[in-house]
Amino acid sequence: MNLPKSARLVEVGPRDGLQNEKQPISVADKVRLVDDLSAAGLSYIEVGSFVSPKWVPQMAGSSEVFAQIQQRPGITYAALAPNMKGFEAALTAGVREVAVFAAASEAFSQKNINCSIGESLERFVPLMDAARQQGIRVRGYVSCVLGCPYEGEVRAEQVASVAKELYAMGCYEVSLGDTIGTGTAGATRHLFNVVGRDIPRNLLAGHFHDTYGQALANIYASLQEGINVFDSSVAGLGGCPYAKGASGNVATEDVLYLLNGLGIDTGIDMGRLIQAGARICAVLDKPNGSRVARARQANT
Ligand code: HMG
Ligand code: MG
Repeated sequence: MNLPKSARLVEVGPRDGLQNEKQPISVADKVRLVDDLSAAGLSYIEVGSFVSPKWVPQMAGSSEVFAQIQQRPGITYAALAPNMKGFEAALTAGVREVAVFAAASEAFSQKNINCSIGESLERFVPLMDAARQQGIRVRGYVSCVLGCPYEGEVRAEQVASVAKELYAMGCYEVSLGDTIGTGTAGATRHLFNVVGRDIPRNLLAGHFHDTYGQALANIYASLQEGINVFDSSVAGLGGCPYAKGASGNVATEDVLYLLNGLGIDTGIDMGRLIQAGARICAVLDKPNGSRVARARQANT
C-alpha cells in the first residue's frame, strides 16, 4: 500500500495537554518541557495560547514561557490566538506562528469561545490580514469534526465548509480535531475524502484525542488517505476544558512507534521523547498516558 514516506508531528502537549491541568504548573516546568521536546527532535511545538486567562487560567504564563524557551533553528514554536487581542499579545511575545480555531458545531463554538461559528470566522479576518502584513504563518483548527459533546453527530460536509473558509482566509494548513475522540477509522476516511475535495490533502492534518481508544486506528486510516501531519501530545497529556470527559491527545510516543514500524520518517528520537514525557508526568504527579512509554519504563 502507498503510505507517505515521511510525516510531521505537531507536538501540542505544552498547550492542548497542559491547558486542562487544574494544578498550577510553573513557567520553569513548562519551559523545561518545551526544551526537552526540542531536544527530542520535534520540528513543531505548540508552546501555549493567548486566550482569556479567565477562560483558561493554565495558559496565562505563555508570554513568559516564550521568553525563556531556547528556540532552536528549524523548529516552529507556535501559539493559539482566538482574536486580535491574542494575536497582538503573541506578537509582543515574539511568536512567529499562530493557530486560530473554529468549531464544526455551533454549540461547541458557543461553549469554547462564546460566539457562533460565523462570528469566530469574522474575527479571524483582521487577524489574518495583520498576520499577512507581519509575515506570520497561521494554522487553522476545526474542532468537533467527528462528534460534538453537545450536539452529537457532526456531518463531514459541515466540517468541510468551515475548513474551506479557514483555507480561503489564508491558513496554510487546516488541522481537523476529533475533540472528544469518538471518531472511528471509517468515519475518518470519509471525513478526509469529503474535506479533501476542497483542500489539497497535503495541507490537511489530523488531531485525534484518544478518549475511545481509536486514535491510532484513525491515524492509520488517515495515512491511507495520504494525510501525513498529525497533532499529538507527549505522554498523552491533556483534554479540552470545554469538552467534558475528553481525554488527552493521542500520545506522541505511541504515534512515533506506529510510524517507525511503518518506516515513515519523522526525525524524532524515541528515547529523548520518552524522557520528556516522564519528566512532565513526574511534575504533574500523574501516570504516563503513553502505552509505549509505560512499556519501555517497565522494562528498564
Ligand atoms: P469573551 O468573554 O466572549 O470575550 O471571550 P470578550 O471579547 O467579551 O472579552 C472578555 C474579557 O476577556 C475582556 O477582559 C477581554 O479583554 C479579555 P475584561 O475586560 O473582562 O477584563 N480577552 C482576552 N484576554 C487575553 N487574551 C485574549 C483575550 N480576548 C479577550 N486573547 C474569548 C472570548 C475567545 C477570549 C474566550 O472565549 C477565550 O479565551 N476562549 C478560549 C478557549 C480556549 O482556549 N479553549 C481551548 C483551546 S481550543 C481546543 O483545545 C481545541 C483544539 O485542541 C482542537 C481540538 O481538539 O479539536 C484546538
Ligand atoms: Mg485538542
